[in-house]
Amino acid sequence: MILPMERHIARVLIHRDAIARRVCELADQIADDFGRHGDEAGVAPPLPARPDITIVPILTGSIVFLADLIRQLPLMARLRFLTIESYPGKSTTSRGPIIDGELPADLAGASVLIVDDVLDSGRTLQLAQQKILERQPAQMRTCVMLRKDVPTAAKPAVDYIGFDIPDEFVVGYGLDYDGYYRNLPDVVTLRSEVFA
Ligand code: IMP
Ligand code: MG
Repeated sequence: MILPMERHIARVLIHRDAIARRVCELADQIADDFGRHGDEAGVAPPLPARPDITIVPILTGSIVFLADLIRQLPLMARLRFLTIESYPGKSTTSRGPIIDGELPADLAGASVLIVDDVLDSGRTLQLAQQKILERQPAQMRTCVMLRKDVPTAAKPAVDYIGFDIPDEFVVGYGLDYDGYYRNLPDVVTLRSEVFA
C-alpha cells in the first residue's frame, strides 16, 4: 500500500502561501536589479545591447522554485540548466558537489542569475559560481530559496535569499529525500521513521 506523503511530515516549516508571497518579492528585487528598463519619463529608453538575463538553475532541487520565480519575472529570460549532485541516494549530508554533464557554453557577456533551492554547506554554489565565472559573464548574481544556518559553511556571495532556516534536513517545494517529496507544496521536515 502506498501511504500518502502527508503522513511522513513531521512539521511544516514554510507554508506554500508564505513561499508564494516571498517569490513575488524576490522577483521584484531581481527585476529591479537586472534593469527593468524604466519608463519614468514616459519615454521608452533605448534598448541596451543585451537586455536579457540568463537564468542558470541548479538541477534538480531548484525546479519548483524556478517555475514559480520565472513566471513573476517581467524580463527577457532564457534558461541554461546545470546539474550538480551532492546527496547520493538516502543521504542527508553532502558528499561534496559534482557537476554532471556539460557547463552551458554560451555565457560569455551574459547577465547570469544562478538559482538554487538551498544553501547548506555552500559548496554547490561555490562550484557553480567558479565554473560560470570561467565563462566570463558580464555579471553574475545568485538566488537561493533557503539558506540554512550552518556556521561552518563556505560563504559564496548570495544576492537573493527567500528564507533563512535552521540547520535541519528539509524536503518539499523541489527538495528531495532519496528522490522523493519534491512535489510537496510546503517546505517540511520528515518524521524520523522515514529515515529508519
Ligand atoms: P551544499 O553544497 O551543501 O550547499 O548543498 C546544496 C545542495 O544540497 C542543494 O542544492 C540541495 O540539492 C541539497 N540539499 C542541501 N540541504 C538539503 C536538505 O535539507 N534537503 C534536501 N536537499 C538538500
Ligand atoms: Mg541541489
